[in-house]
Parts: sequence; structure tokens; C-alpha cells
Amino acid sequence: MEKRLMHAVQYNAYGGGSNALKHVEVPIPIPSKDEVLIKLEAASINPLDWKIQKGTLWPILPTKFPYIPCVDVAGEVMEVGKGVTKFKVGDKVVGSMSPFSGGGLAEFAVVKESVTVSRPPKMSASEFAGLPVAGITALQALSQSIGIKLDGSGERKNILITAASGGVGHYAVQLAKLGNTHVTATCGARNMELVKSLGADEVIDYKTPDGAALKSPSGKKYDAVIHCANDFPWSIFEPNLSMNGKVVDISPTPGSVMSFALKKLTFPKKQLVPLFLLPNCRDLQYLVDLVKQGKLTTVIDSKYPITKAEDGWARSIDGHATGKIIFEF
Ligand SMILES: NC(=O)c1ccc[n+]([C@@H]2O[C@H](COP(=O)([O-])OP(=O)(O)OC[C@H]3O[C@@H](n4cnc5c(N)ncnc54)[C@H](OP(=O)(O)O)[C@@H]3O)[C@@H](O)[C@H]2O)c1
Repeated sequence: MEKRLMHAVQYNAYGGGSNALKHVEVPIPIPSKDEVLIKLEAASINPLDWKIQKGTLWPILPTKFPYIPCVDVAGEVMEVGKGVTKFKVGDKVVGSMSPFSGGGLAEFAVVKESVTVSRPPKMSASEFAGLPVAGITALQALSQSIGIKLDGSGERKNILITAASGGVGHYAVQLAKLGNTHVTATCGARNMELVKSLGADEVIDYKTPDGAALKSPSGKKYDAVIHCANDFPWSIFEPNLSMNGKVVDISPTPGSVMSFALKKLTFPKKQLVPLFLLPNCRDLQYLVDLVKQGKLTTVIDSKYPITKAEDGWARSIDGHATGKIIFEF
């Protein structure tokens, strides 16, 4: 039988950035027993996607070329695998694909039922497509790594969120304010009003001397830092932390982990906690419900049709997105 084809964007080797993306026609994937086939309405890009292309995760990812990137997807269920019980054809969903399979920058994608959740059918897919990687990372950093209770109970904590204008940071500010927290946030001058409007109590311009030093304007010491910016030495964090202060580093490198581990000998109660996202339905559904209730918003930096995928890819590599970059289909 002739295979049905779809438009997809893929690359064939490491490197090359947006120029290496190729528009191709490939067979529509077939869902296995525990998967659903989704006709995509929106997908979002994360720095992970272009870091994989750059070879940052070599030799683990990609497992083979050609590789269709992107893992955050939202759309409509077209077909369900034999073992799928939660979904039926026509359901509107959001899902988190594995970076091992990739496949989100295409008209159709197959996603495991275990990391797919329903979303409100009348709300735009773009509102939800940013949640899987960035939203779950922000949620896990706050609730699991730091222990913030997002129902507002729990003892008050001073939190610093760096790069609060980015994909992870803008969700982290909003989620942190559901808990009993005082939030200090760093971002560029152009985004300070936005980050305040998301709930931050204090905002610092990261290009000023105080911003670069991560100093709270009110002189607060941080009980926890959700560190979404890159490459800060321990010597910057240390003087700003409370006695048992914790830095949750969402972009840990072997070098930074080693350096923090050595410093920990000197400041044993202050800690670095590397975070590696673990996608799951419970966290994704929690975030979808918050969006539905109007308690969490996806700030959309820009939207690109799949025909202009290169532009969205280049925008993400540039590192200056405010909120999420979305592809629409
Ligand atoms: N561990 C995990 O599982 C995991 C999961 C998700 C993400 N990550 C990693 O987390 C990092 C952040 O991801 P993201 O999606 O939030 O990135 P993003 O959306 O690309 O971040 C861009 C934003 O960061 C701001 N920014 C850059 N440097 C800054 C600094 N020094 N201080 C304050 N703001 C700064 C930029 O502001 P300006 O435009 O004003 O410069 C821009 O608004 C990436 O390295 C990503 O790979 C890890």
C-alpha cells in the first residue's frame, strides 16, 4: 500500500544551524500500541533542540540521521494505538516527545500516551505547546528541587529566578508566586515590566553591576535560586545565598558540577542541585489545568509557520526570546 506523506523539517548531520534544516516529504508515522498519532497545530522549540543539532549531547543524541527535531507538540488525535485507553480520535492534546525519537517539526507526530494529556478544545494550541519542556522544568525545579508548595502553604522562601524572561524563567516566576515566596528575577531592561506583570516582587537588569552580581534590591538573601541563565561561577551565588541556600542549575555542565562540588566543601550547607527534566503526565496535566484556570500564561515571543521553520530556529539560537517561540501548522 502506498504510504501517505507529510511535510517535515529535518537535518542530516551535526552543525549548520538554521541553514542545515531541510524541508522534506516523509511518510506519516504509524502509532505503536502505546502511542497516539497527532495532527500538529503547534510545536515549540527549546534550546535543547538546537543543542542536539550542535552536537552538545554527542554521542547520545541524535541516535541517527536524518533527524526531525522538536519534542513539544499540541494538536488533534488522528489515530490511537491498540493499547491506548485515555484518548480517542478528535481529542485535542498536548504531548512531550522523546528527544531520542524527535519528530515534532512535522505535520504529524506519534507521542506516547503516557506523556500526552488533554487540553481545552476551544483554547489555542499555541497556549499549550510551550508547556512540556519549559513548563515542566520550571515546575520540577520549584516543587521537587526546592520543595515549594504551589498551594501557597509552606514556610515563606526568598527565590531568585535568573533569565526570568526566557521560556523556563517566565513559567518559573508565575509558578513560584502560587507558593509562599518572595521572587527576585533577573532579565534585560526591555523585559522588566513584563516580568513584574508575571508576578515578580523585584526585578533586576542583568546588564547592571547589581544585576551581574545577582544582588536583591531589598538586600534579601536567597533560600533558592532557579538558575536559567548560563555560566555563573559559584563566587557570584555564594554571597547572595541564605545559610542553607540552594542553587538549582538547569543547564549543568560537568565543569560546573565539579566546581560546585569542590566549593561545597567550603560552604557545606549551601548546595548546587543539577536538574534534569523528567516529563510526565501528572506535571503536564497540572500545568494545562493552570492555563485553563487563567493562573498560568504562555508568553509568546513569536510564531512561525512550518514553511519558515529556519527563522524560528535562528531566533532560538540567538538566545533573546521573550517567552516561547512557537511553530504553527
Ligand atoms: N535541565 C533541563 O532539563 C532543561 C530544561 C529546559 C531548559 N534547559 C536549559 O535552560 C536554559 C534556559 O532555557 P530557556 O528555554 O528558558 O531559554 P531561552 O528562552 O532561550 O532564554 C532566553 C532569555 O534568557 C534571557 N537571558 C539570557 N542571558 C541572561 C542573563 N545572563 N541574565 C538574565 N537573562 C538572561 C534573554 O534575555 P535578553 O534577550 O534580554 O538577553 C532571553 O529573554 C537553556 O540553557 C536550556 O538548554 C534545561
